[in-house]
Amino acid sequence: MLKIAVFVSGRGSNLKAIINSIPHQLENVEISAVISDKKDCPALDYAEGLGIKTLFVSEKDPQSINYENLIQILCGLKTDLIVLAGFLKKIPDEMIENFPNKIINIHPALLPSFGGKGMYGMNVHKAVFENSCQISGPTVHFVDKIYDNGKIIAQKAVDISDVKTPDEIAERVLKIEHILLPFVIKKISENKISIKNNRVYIAE
Ligand code: GAR
Repeated sequence: MLKIAVFVSGRGSNLKAIINSIPHQLENVEISAVISDKKDCPALDYAEGLGIKTLFVSEKDPQSINYENLIQILCGLKTDLIVLAGFLKKIPDEMIENFPNKIINIHPALLPSFGGKGMYGMNVHKAVFENSCQISGPTVHFVDKIYDNGKIIAQKAVDISDVKTPDEIAERVLKIEHILLPFVIKKISENKISIKNNRVYIAE
């Protein structure tokens, strides 16, 4: 069983896509906790409603746990993989050191373009639109200490040559995110992802 902790900050559609994939695609995956930097976001409420353990992490809010506590809790839960599914805060270095190559992120553009600080959610799609890009698409990558910089695991190109608004790009890319993220989690659960010569390979 691959035990995953899912980090969220908002709506939670990627979290839902993971949860919905568990019965038929991710049978050997278990969500041990859902973590958010926002106390009341819909994603956290959704997980709570399903009886999944939820945690609120922040360095400032007295009602929250801090990252040091969180690392201990995740280790205690024997977390195999951390999935950033729309988590918009930077992960502290200490956490990355504790989970080397065990943190993945979904980004709504084709990295290494349109990544980095401030590049999240609609900001990304607006930039893609304004640059008149003809394709976009999600990227799933390992998380290292630099924003959106870790090795790319999987990407999927989406034709956006006929879109009229950034919202249309967001809608098209999100649909593919919901397929790509569960796919990568499945491959990790099957031990089918390896790194050779600085590249990530996914076995059939
Ligand atoms: C998704 O589009 C995800 O790719 C993006 O936030 C959205 C969260 O939606 N993540 C980033 O921009 C990270 N840089 P969701 O809460 O409905 O899953």
